Amino acid sequence: MTKKPQRYTITSALPYANGPIHIGHLAGVYVPADIYARYLRSKGEDVLFIGGSDEHGVPITIKARKEGVSPQDIVDRYHNIIKKSFEEFGISFDVYSRTSAPVHHETASAFFKKLYDEGKFIERTSEQYYDEEAHTFLADRYITGTCPHCGYEKAYGDQCENCGTSLSPLELINPKSALSGNVPVLRETKHWYLPLDQYENFLREWILEGHKNDWKTNVYGQVKSWIDQGLKPRAVTRDLDWGVKVPVEGVEGKVLYVWFDAPIGYISASREWSQRTGKDWQPYWKSTDTKLVHFIGKDNIVFHCIIFPVMLKAEGSYILPDNVPANEFLNLENDKISTSRNWAVWLHEYLEEFPGKQDVLRYVLTANAPETKDNDFTWRDFQARNNNELLAIFGNFVNRTLVLTKKYFNSQVPPRHTLQEIDKETLDSLRTFPEKIAESIERYRFREALGEMMNLARLGNKYLTDNEPWKVFKTDPQRVETVLNISLQIVAALSVTAEPFLPFTAQKLTGMLNIEPLKWKDAGHADILSAGHSLGKPAFLFEKIEDAQVEAQVQKLLDTKKANEAAAAPVAPQKDEITYDDFMKMDIRTGTILEAEKVPKTKKLLKLKIDTGIDQRTVVSGIAEYFSPDEIVGKQVSILVNLAPRKLRGIVSQGMILMAQDKDGRLVFVSPEEKTSNGSEIK
Ligand code: 2FM
Ligand code: ZN
Repeated sequence: MTKKPQRYTITSALPYANGPIHIGHLAGVYVPADIYARYLRSKGEDVLFIGGSDEHGVPITIKARKEGVSPQDIVDRYHNIIKKSFEEFGISFDVYSRTSAPVHHETASAFFKKLYDEGKFIERTSEQYYDEEAHTFLADRYITGTCPHCGYEKAYGDQCENCGTSLSPLELINPKSALSGNVPVLRETKHWYLPLDQYENFLREWILEGHKNDWKTNVYGQVKSWIDQGLKPRAVTRDLDWGVKVPVEGVEGKVLYVWFDAPIGYISASREWSQRTGKDWQPYWKSTDTKLVHFIGKDNIVFHCIIFPVMLKAEGSYILPDNVPANEFLNLENDKISTSRNWAVWLHEYLEEFPGKQDVLRYVLTANAPETKDNDFTWRDFQARNNNELLAIFGNFVNRTLVLTKKYFNSQVPPRHTLQEIDKETLDSLRTFPEKIAESIERYRFREALGEMMNLARLGNKYLTDNEPWKVFKTDPQRVETVLNISLQIVAALSVTAEPFLPFTAQKLTGMLNIEPLKWKDAGHADILSAGHSLGKPAFLFEKIEDAQVEAQVQKLLDTKKANEAAAAPVAPQKDEITYDDFMKMDIRTGTILEAEKVPKTKKLLKLKIDTGIDQRTVVSGIAEYFSPDEIVGKQVSILVNLAPRKLRGIVSQGMILMAQDKDGRLVFVSPEEKTSNGSEIK
């Protein structure tokens, strides 16, 4: 965009409403988008910042089926959790909508209909798997079978999770329906396709030539490789009953492909905003002096750089994105973030454990943002950045300035007197920061921008340390007036320049300075606070994060890892074959535990007295780590009674209680389902 934009439409990928959100979501998409939106608002720009939940797609229906609830129940649950997390972390959406909303169904439906009526789709009939018992075509995820590449027997119709290969359902050996377990049959079905191949020239000219220099290299590179590999028509409808119904007469049981309807969700959200505010949404999507920017993660690049633009182009009345600053992925403690393995820091859990520390996480995720390559979040780094940067530099500078002003000047901004060289240099330097930070933000370099904002805090910290007002005050209070005036101007500039990154901190700062929030243009001039202005009360902006807090988080992840490993471990292999006679030699009876006590000086052993129906006898059992004596007295159990007696810790044990032991080593009793008389034979 060469002209100055008149307004900005900022979208952030709509998260799937089938789980809560984690730090990877924040770092990749929402914090950068929010920094951008807040900065532009601070500059006085007209901004529409859009978010919402993506509530269609097969994984949502699978989750609903698993839980025995409706897909709407699932999306209602997670939409609310996600929306709350965004609010709590200060993601300043102008609208947060959802794709199950009527306004979205209308918008997506009309969009499809227009393309359909104008002949922009091609129709194709193909054979797809159909479940005759469930009377439905099967989405790829609903078909399992053997992977033709690695032989894994539980591969899905779209991907083998064992070897990672992308598959088509027709490639699976021995396909099975996940709905009924039956073998599916092939049936003909008709779908509509967006002929991406017809738009190759448009894409080449618009992106490969037009955005060679301003799009990020990771984005540009991925788009180029897609186009160079040759684009193919892409199906935009599915045989499914959850989603936006295909608005074509006589068509039943078909919905728009989730990736067709989801990006239209940005437009629907804008219409919802328009209905609520009375403002016109159309200039935000249709005026060429609007700058449209999509914030997404790298797995969404093809949809936002190829498919959605082709949809917009085919429709004809919309503008195209000016930029798509996609991020790479954030890992957690050297491992890929994974919802299914619970390898994540969930936002709602973070806030329970670090209440009020939203800005710390926003800071760490920006300082470590995966802007050009995948990056790693570690709890140690989180602690170090809080303690050594936010607390030691930013917090320390602000606190010293305000506390000294309170102490020496009763919290009134002192006047400036004759300036020394160091004062002039500091003021000159201060004036350069807003522009430097702005330049980085406008180029989507948020880490760099944050680094500059911290350099402004460093400037202040160093200025204070070099001038030592606490030493000078006794001999030259006028000099201290100048030094604190300048320091306070830096604090005021920080309240503006930190706001996009650390909105909660900025708000506290304006409170402590007793000023209304300032605009970006105010930050650079060094006379924000006039002499005599009364300040508010100083308070700490950040607090130390202790080793124990971080260790607890690391331990939580180690526990997750252990649980994952146990879950992934195969069950113990079957033992060698025995004969029927071997089995019949074992005399297993039901019995009742009459007494139980710990065997002294052991961790695992309980001494039990058991009524076996035959007699009352003593059995020593290694279950003390799982059961306390009290909870098992009276329990009916299974006991092998003809095991040769053994001496354990000096106690003769006459038999063995049968227990089931799972992969984690956890023990449960093998007990009769109903009470039965002691001594009943188990065979
Ligand atoms: O990858 C995802 O989480 C998708 N739900 C993003 C959709 S972005 C937009 F198109 F809605
Ligand atoms: Zn495989």
